[in-house]
Amino acid sequence: MYNIAIAGATGAVGEELLRVIEEFDLPVKKLVPLASARSVGKEVEFKGETLKVKELTCEVFEEEEIDIAFFSAGGSVSAKFAPCAAKAGAVVIDNTSYFRMNPDVPLVVPEVNPEDIVLWKKTGIIANPNCSTIQMVISLAPLHKEFGIKRVDVATYQAVSGAGKKGMEELFEQMRAVFNFKLDKKVEEREVFQHQIALNVIPHIDKFMDNGFTKEEMKMVNETNKIMHSNIQVAPTCVRVPVLRSHSEAITIYCEKEVSVERAREVLANFEDVKVVDNPEKNEYPMPIIATDTDYVYVGRIRKDLYDPKVLHFFNVADQIRVGAATNAVRIAKKWIE
Ligand code: HSE
Repeated sequence: MYNIAIAGATGAVGEELLRVIEEFDLPVKKLVPLASARSVGKEVEFKGETLKVKELTCEVFEEEEIDIAFFSAGGSVSAKFAPCAAKAGAVVIDNTSYFRMNPDVPLVVPEVNPEDIVLWKKTGIIANPNCSTIQMVISLAPLHKEFGIKRVDVATYQAVSGAGKKGMEELFEQMRAVFNFKLDKKVEEREVFQHQIALNVIPHIDKFMDNGFTKEEMKMVNETNKIMHSNIQVAPTCVRVPVLRSHSEAITIYCEKEVSVERAREVLANFEDVKVVDNPEKNEYPMPIIATDTDYVYVGRIRKDLYDPKVLHFFNVADQIRVGAATNAVRIAKKWIE
């Protein structure tokens, strides 16, 4: 049995972590919800009990004898407190981007590179990848093994939950305003997204880099290859859409071998935590309303390129808060415990 802390317990991912830890039956001796001073005293529910949030400090990990510390409170919080948690003897499972590309920190998607977890001993930290990367590599891994992927073109359709609770609230506010015909006023009040998100799509997530790609897009490029131990060329366009909490991705893979739709369906269906939903005759394909609140990556619209027999197209969808964050973190913890 383990003492488990959640830093950022009152955020969208923190709240989901509480549910997933319970559903996945992690062996919990004690659960300690942590947050910044302004959230101290707030309450969270875990296994039918109400727990009071404590202040996140460097000392709390030693005082509470924490074995596993989940962090989902932003990069600057992880930078400050994750090393203290590791020093106090906890394994840190960090959901921010702060440590992801550190060569001494494993970046893990348990379905894809579980063998990397042992590297946690170097720093005490295991990094949880970016949500759009997690769902993409889960669908790429079996196809890479089968066909040898050389290049990936991907366009994402990312839900507002990727921007946290405030992003979700901003969409709700604007949708309410749309239905009340008061859009102008509410759009002026936006805080999270660069533009109105209701009734719109925004081809811009996180900061622009010098090369014209965004930080979100470069995460997909770099994290994919770290997780897959590969040298795949990745060309992403990341787009925010007015969907609540499931990300979708339209993907094209360029392979070494000739592809086959039947074989792609087969290897995907046999891969852990993937569900193939691909029946055009019945209008069946992955959509956010299917994936939301589940722990699967749904893959469909699988088709061979019209011109090149080594090119395959498909579409995937997964719940950003679960598969893209909380569930992956808990799956890492389960593997670490094994
Ligand atoms: N960076 C992602 C997004 C969240 O903004 O959708 C992934 O954790």
